[in-house]
Amino acid sequence: MKLQIHDTYAAMSAAAAALVMDTLRAKPTALLCFATGDTPRLTYELLAARIQEEKVDTSQCTLIGLDEWLGIPPENEGSCDYFLHHYLINPLGLKPRQVHLFDGLSDDLENECAMMNGLISDKGGIDLALVGVGMNGHIGFNEPGTPVDAAAHVSALEPITTQVGQKYFMGEQPLHSGLTVGLKQLLEAGQLIMIANGEKKAPVLRQMMEGEISNLFPASLLRQQVNGFLLTDSAAATMLTTQKE
Ligand code: F6R
Repeated sequence: MKLQIHDTYAAMSAAAAALVMDTLRAKPTALLCFATGDTPRLTYELLAARIQEEKVDTSQCTLIGLDEWLGIPPENEGSCDYFLHHYLINPLGLKPRQVHLFDGLSDDLENECAMMNGLISDKGGIDLALVGVGMNGHIGFNEPGTPVDAAAHVSALEPITTQVGQKYFMGEQPLHSGLTVGLKQLLEAGQLIMIANGEKKAPVLRQMMEGEISNLFPASLLRQQVNGFLLTDSAAATMLTTQKE
């Protein structure tokens, strides 16, 4: 894993956007798997702006959503679907054939997972996954204890995840479960880029980088990954004793 500590959230976000640009330029047909949440907002704004300014071809790439809340409709502004449309799919004009997002309202969740698994395997795996990290070390909705060989699945969310998740919504939501791309698919990605900023993530990053490597703290698994990147701002890195590369 490569660790990059940037001075600011803006610098971290610019560096993450640059890594995505490199992948799009090297492989226009890339399969991209993107998280939502507070962390990647600026990365996506910068990415969309650079793609437009530098006229990078996105007509051949495929975008999959990393996860979705069960029971939340796509028109809800707190849904992952809404977020990805707002920040990337609409600004870039990605066509429906290029985008595959979990349907949080599906009455056939097994099929939702099977469709995502089929797409990832048909494309030969994810080329670049951009993820955040939860307060319990989750990646996507791969909560602590998720098997490392998990493909897309329904995840029962821990109370910390459902409590923190309320921040995305206008009013209190009955959050309990999610659909997520699995740890195996993320760990096998060509590049797995985690971004984390702000002082509230400092204890999370300390456990990730200096605690035991275990699926009981999924983010720690990134440490063993040659395809892994951790990009932080200085506030999130204050409790790390490891050196940046
Ligand atoms: C959301 C997702 C989550 C978030 C994580 C951090 O699509 O995959 O795992 O990345 O909970 O969220 P923020 O960025 O809001 O701190």
